[in-house]
Amino acid sequence: MSPFGSWGLPAALLALLCCPGSSEKAPSKQEAVKLGDSYKINCTSDCPNPLIKGLETLLDKKVLQEQAQWTEYLVSNISQDSVLYCYSTCSGKQTKKAVIVNVFHPPEQVLLRLQPARVTVGSSFTITCSVTAAIPLERLTLTLLHGEKPLHVQTFENGTDTPATATHNAIAHKKDGHHNFSCRADLDLHALGRGVISNVSEVQVLQVYEPMQDNQMVIIITVVSVLLFLFVTSVLLCFIFGQQWHQRRIGTYRVQEAWRTLRRTYRTQPT
Ligand SMILES: *[C@@H]1O[C@H](CO)[C@@H](O)[C@H](O)[C@H]1NC(C)=O
Ligand SMILES: *[C@@H]1O[C@H](CO)[C@@H](O)[C@H](O)[C@H]1NC(C)=O
Ligand SMILES: *[C@@H]1O[C@H](CO)[C@@H](O)[C@H](O)[C@H]1NC(C)=O
Ligand SMILES: *[C@@H]1O[C@H](CO)[C@@H](O)[C@H](O)[C@H]1NC(C)=O
Ligand SMILES: *[C@@H]1O[C@H](CO)[C@@H](O)[C@H](O)[C@H]1NC(C)=O
Repeated sequence: MSPFGSWGLPAALLALLCCPGSSEKAPSKQEAVKLGDSYKINCTSDCPNPLIKGLETLLDKKVLQEQAQWTEYLVSNISQDSVLYCYSTCSGKQTKKAVIVNVFHPPEQVLLRLQPARVTVGSSFTITCSVTAAIPLERLTLTLLHGEKPLHVQTFENGTDTPATATHNAIAHKKDGHHNFSCRADLDLHALGRGVISNVSEVQVLQVYEPMQDNQMVIIITVVSVLLFLFVTSVLLCFIFGQQWHQRRIGTYRVQEAWRTLRRTYRTQPT
């Protein structure tokens, strides 16, 4: 734990900047150390025989080598950003040199997930990428890739919950099935005097299929509807025509009947 709690680094830097007059200011050095690793530090003094000398830190330390003008220490198990102070006093003059140790952790377990992994053309799917270990989070960038093309870039803030996650929603196109999706995690340590540490997820291929079955269904329904319509129409037409024919027949009979009655009346009439 830092002697200044969560304000460790800023408070220590402040103390360094406004330290009392007798101290000699020295430019502080920045180092990047992997989480849990050890760090060798060589504390030197300009004075041929310093009276007091040492290394100020709350981390575990041990002396590796010692000479009159320098001491090499091994600081082990570095678990958080820390400031190490090499101090020495020589003829009443105090010197304090700071080394700022920034911890980092390469991005590990970059996991990419496509949900669902099988989609129809035109429907949406979600790409999710997560990284379990990456420190410092504010230097992490996750890039969701479709083939070589970046789809989405996400950066993070200090306090973000881990695993750091990037999410992107997309619509499936026919060609999506021919490209691999992947996720790249870049930890940019340039500000800490290192390069970029990258890691990539395994590739995932989206299975895109055409809604073939739906099309067939539509065709079948259409054909059945048309047939049904034709059938119903023909039955109706048959019925209507049948009725008309019947009517005409009855009409004819009635005329014949009237004619017969007329003739009978004529015949029965005496001449
Ligand atoms: C520590 O620094 C001094 C002065 O620069 C140098 O002479 C000495 O060899 C260094 N020790 C180690 C172990 O590097
Ligand atoms: C390293 O530091 C962490 C956190 O401060 C602690 O939990 C762990 O036990 C330490 N490991 C060793 C080997 O000292
Ligand atoms: C990438 O992550 C895997 C585990 O997920 C790890 O074994 C590997 O060392 C990492 N690569 C780098 C460059 O950190
Ligand atoms: C993130 O944390 C570091 C040290 O832990 C601090 O120097 C920096 O200002 C913080 N950044 C933000 C955006 O809070
Ligand atoms: C996608 O990934 C598979 C397996 O990882 C590989 O065989 C294939 O060539 C890749 N396709 C493209 C277009 O990158």
